[in-house]
Amino acid sequence: MTKKILVAVAWPYANGDLHVGHLAGAYLPADIFARYHRLLGNDVLMVSGSDTHGTPVSLRAEQENVTPREVFERFHHRFLETQRDIGISYDLFTHTDTPNHHQVSQDVFLALLHNGNIYTETQQQYYSETLGRFLPDRYVEGVCPHCGYPEARGDQCDNCGRILDALELGNPRCKIDGSIPVIRETEHFFLDLGKLAPAVAAYLDDNKEDWRPNVLNFSRNYVNGGLKGRAITRDIEWGIPVPVEGYDHKRLYVWFEAVIGYLSASIEEANLRGTPDVWKAWWHDRNAETYYFIGKDNIVFHTVIWPAELIGAGALYGDDESQSLNLPTDVPANEFMNLAGAQFSKSRGHMITLPDLLSRYEADAIRYYVAVVMPETSDSDFLWDDFVLRNNGELVAVWGNLAHRVLSFTQRHFGEVPEAGPLTDIDAALLDATKAGFGAVGGHLSARHFRAAIGEAFALAREANRYLEVKSPWVQIKEDRAAAATSLHVALQAINALKTMFAPFLPFTSQKLHEALGFETPLFGQQVIQVVSDARGTHEVLRYDASRTSGRWAFEPLPAGRPLAKPEPLFRKLDESVVEEELARMHK
Ligand code: MF3
Ligand code: ZN
Repeated sequence: MTKKILVAVAWPYANGDLHVGHLAGAYLPADIFARYHRLLGNDVLMVSGSDTHGTPVSLRAEQENVTPREVFERFHHRFLETQRDIGISYDLFTHTDTPNHHQVSQDVFLALLHNGNIYTETQQQYYSETLGRFLPDRYVEGVCPHCGYPEARGDQCDNCGRILDALELGNPRCKIDGSIPVIRETEHFFLDLGKLAPAVAAYLDDNKEDWRPNVLNFSRNYVNGGLKGRAITRDIEWGIPVPVEGYDHKRLYVWFEAVIGYLSASIEEANLRGTPDVWKAWWHDRNAETYYFIGKDNIVFHTVIWPAELIGAGALYGDDESQSLNLPTDVPANEFMNLAGAQFSKSRGHMITLPDLLSRYEADAIRYYVAVVMPETSDSDFLWDDFVLRNNGELVAVWGNLAHRVLSFTQRHFGEVPEAGPLTDIDAALLDATKAGFGAVGGHLSARHFRAAIGEAFALAREANRYLEVKSPWVQIKEDRAAAATSLHVALQAINALKTMFAPFLPFTSQKLHEALGFETPLFGQQVIQVVSDARGTHEVLRYDASRTSGRWAFEPLPAGRPLAKPEPLFRKLDESVVEEELARMHK
């Protein structure tokens, strides 16, 4: 049966280029998962967008002396190009400053208010007397009350990962001018997490066997520690207005509304297709599965706060009371990918940006390395020598050479897929292993075990290489052309199947190979940047130009007699000097 699969991907702050940490933490696993489900024949909806609000964007605007809009539009455009070039196949990548997102965010807020899950309270907040305004979360830094880290931000400690309230910081100082802020009273809306906690706890207890243990424990501990109401409005200018009279000069808190983007983008995608109700198949239908791909610093926002918003909004947009919105099926958060031992950091400039990486390396070479060292269960490292080693020793030597050797040899001697004679046990064993590969690789992919999945596909490629060594068609061809034909026929079947198994990881080269093997219908669609009109004007988005499903995750026989063209190598060997060059570039 065709399943509805929502692939929801963390929304990057549009205040700097995307880097390898983003790719490893969220986008690549999400894309692998989405492509796999499309190949499997499921109906995939993959959405995300730029997080345009919040202090990361307004702080940068302040530093550059430009408007927040100028900052987010610049980076949003770059996000579209970067993610197209590295092949992140969103059905829609939009942003949070669209009229649609404003509307849906305000609808969720009002539904929560209407259902009694939001209350107002006077709060103490840091205020800068030198600047004459309130200072939201990230504008204040100080000592973390939990771990003592001296540079904790007002919203979260980078050292211990805990979510903070700026008032808890020791020695607070203003990030803009270093002055010591004072405390003033202000009235805000609060999400009543105390009231919603039992429902969230029940959600986290129900059917979570296949969640990553660290995600589940972290979330349960957070809830068991006791939940208090959380302020979801701010005294700032940049953001979505609070839809309540008398409060419309206040703004929704960025974390409250950014997560709503998953819903609003699903709605926008349906509208862009001209079928405004189709999003409901992923959000109302209880058989739909919804997966959220995020980094570990975002866990509780997706496992606690977002479920609380969804539960509290009740039957918003439903036809009747029973139509509430689906809660996350899983939040397979990744750990961090460090760069040569230290955490990637936009603000500290310790990073490898994706546009930079893409200017020197092929998308699939980057995707391969990040997939094999993906920080699934613990932090991992991006290391340049390892990048070169694995590119040359695995991608090129094992998979690339297998495909290239067999295709060029067959093309030279037969010009087409040769006919197989009677099969020996060795031939049958490779074909059986190949057929079984779809189940094995697919099982890992379904379970969100990406490293195991690519490892399984690689093991099969190694087996195909061993098969070739044993059969040695380059020797057979001299004595027994029919025997060589059988070996090549079988090897080509394995290569064709491996192409499909690798396709979620290596979509560009799998497509190239797919064409070299004479297939016409492409494996996937393309990512296209489009300007779409909205109620206030236009905005730019990234879309996937093909159907939601392609249904090819199965052994597809390559027919004998199909002509083969002279193949081109799939991958490029990297010179050892790359390591020194890249290290020098980083330490400049
Ligand atoms: N913009 C946030 C960050 O980069 C992530 C937001 S995920 C969202 O940390 F779903 F809340 F948007
Ligand atoms: Zn801390």
